[in-house]
Amino acid sequence: MCESFLDMEKNTVLVGVQWGDEGKGKVVDVLADQFDIVARYQGGANAGHTVVVDGKKFILQLIPSGILRPGKIAVIGNGVVLDPEALFCEVEAIERAGIQVGDRLRISDRSHLILPYHRMHEQAAEAARGDDKIGTTSKGIGPSYEDKASRRGLRCCDLRDARIFREKCKRALLEKNRYAAAFSGEVIADADQLIESYWSQARRIVPFLVNTADYLNREMDRGKTVLFEGAQGTLLDLDHGTYPFVTSSSAAAGGACTGAGVGPTRIGAVIGVSKAYTTRVGSGPFPTEVEGQGAELLRERGGEYGAVTGRPRRCGWFDVPAARYSSRLNHLSALIITKLDILDHLAEIPVGVEYQLNGHTLTEFPAEAETLERVETRYKMLPGWQQSTFGLRDYAQLPQKARDYLQFISDQVEVEIAMISTGPGREQTIWMENCEWMKQTALKQQ
Ligand code: IMP
Repeated sequence: MCESFLDMEKNTVLVGVQWGDEGKGKVVDVLADQFDIVARYQGGANAGHTVVVDGKKFILQLIPSGILRPGKIAVIGNGVVLDPEALFCEVEAIERAGIQVGDRLRISDRSHLILPYHRMHEQAAEAARGDDKIGTTSKGIGPSYEDKASRRGLRCCDLRDARIFREKCKRALLEKNRYAAAFSGEVIADADQLIESYWSQARRIVPFLVNTADYLNREMDRGKTVLFEGAQGTLLDLDHGTYPFVTSSSAAAGGACTGAGVGPTRIGAVIGVSKAYTTRVGSGPFPTEVEGQGAELLRERGGEYGAVTGRPRRCGWFDVPAARYSSRLNHLSALIITKLDILDHLAEIPVGVEYQLNGHTLTEFPAEAETLERVETRYKMLPGWQQSTFGLRDYAQLPQKARDYLQFISDQVEVEIAMISTGPGREQTIWMENCEWMKQTALKQQ
C-alpha cells in the first residue's frame, strides 16, 4: 500500500506529445534527480534519447536516462523489446564515460528479445510496401512485437536455460523459414549458426534479469518513487497514433501500466513533452509540415537529424489540434516545452490552430491517415521575439513575445506549462513556479 497520498502522486509518466524526438531524454535527466527509479515501458533501440551532461553527449536507446544520475535505478520493463547487441554497446559506452552501470540496471525477464531474423523480416516487409513504406528505424522492433502477439516470441527469461532457448529458437525459425521459402524460395537463417552467434552475447543479460513488475511494486510499497519514461510519442502509439504510420508499441501514458506492470492507481501524474514546433521522422501525415527553405532553417538550427538513424527529420510548426488530442488522451497534468530557442530568429511564427476539410472545420483528430493527409491547416501568426533565449534559466528573462507564444500554446492546448527547456544542458531549464501542478507536486526546482 502507498504510505501516503503524496507518494502515490509522485509516481509520474513522462510522455511525448508529438511524433517522438520531443527532447524527453534531457527532461528525464533533469527530473530523475527527484525520483528513486526511472523505468522504460515500451519500444526498443528505435528510440534515441540525447542527453548532455557536463558538455558530454550521450545517446541512450534502451537504458533509461536516469542511469546517468548516480545512485538512481534504471529499469527496462516487460513492454520493451530488447536487442542484446544494442544493450551492451550502450552499457559499454556509458561505462567508458566513467558512469558505472553495475547493479543499477534491472531488466524484465518478461521482455521480448529482438533476434537477427526480426531485422531481416523488417527489411523485407518495408521493401514489399513499395511507395507506402512506414520508414521504420530498421531495428527489428515491429517484427519482434509481431512475434510477441502471435505467441512465438523469445523472452529474456528463455536465456536462463540453453536447452529451452535452443528449442524455442529452432521452433520459431522453422516456421519463419517455411514462410520465407514459400514466398521467396530462400530460408532466412540456419538455426544452429544463428544460435551460436547470438547466444554468448545475449547470455550476458541474465544477471540483470528480475521480475521488474514485482520489483517496482515492492519499491513503491516502501515509498520509493518512479518516473516512467515513454519513448517515441503519442502520435506514434500503435492504437492512438496516425496508424499505420506508427511504431508497434503503446507509447501513450496508458502503456506505462502494461509495459511496466503497475496498476493505474499507482500513477499520480502524466507530464507531456513537446517541442515549441514539430518534427517527424519516417512517412505519414504531418499537417503543419513546412517545405523548402523554411524547413531547412528549422532543421539546421534545431539539429533535426535522427539520433538513431541520422535521417533528416521533417520539420513544421506547432500543431494545436494534434497536441490537444494527445493531451486529452494522456490526461496531461502539465506540459514541458523544449527547444524554444530554435525559434529565436523568426519575425513571425505560424501556429497550426485548426484543420479544415472541404471547407469545414474538423472537430476531432481523424482516425484515418488518408484524411489527415488531406486536411488544410489554418494558422495563427504570432510575432517572433528575435532575440536569444538560449540557456535562459528564469522566466522573467524571457522576452515578452516569447512568453506570449508559450501562453498561447498553453491556452490552446488547455494545459499549464511546468518547464521550458532553452538548451541541451541540465541547467538550461526554466521551472515555472506558478504552475499549479508544480505547486501541488513534490517536484522542486534544482
Ligand atoms: P519503428 O518504431 O522502427 O517500427 O518505426 C515506426 C515509425 O516510428 C517510423 O516512422 C519511425 O521513424 C518512427 N520512430 C520510431 N522510433 C522513433 C523515435 O524514437 N523518434 C521518432 N520517430 C521514431
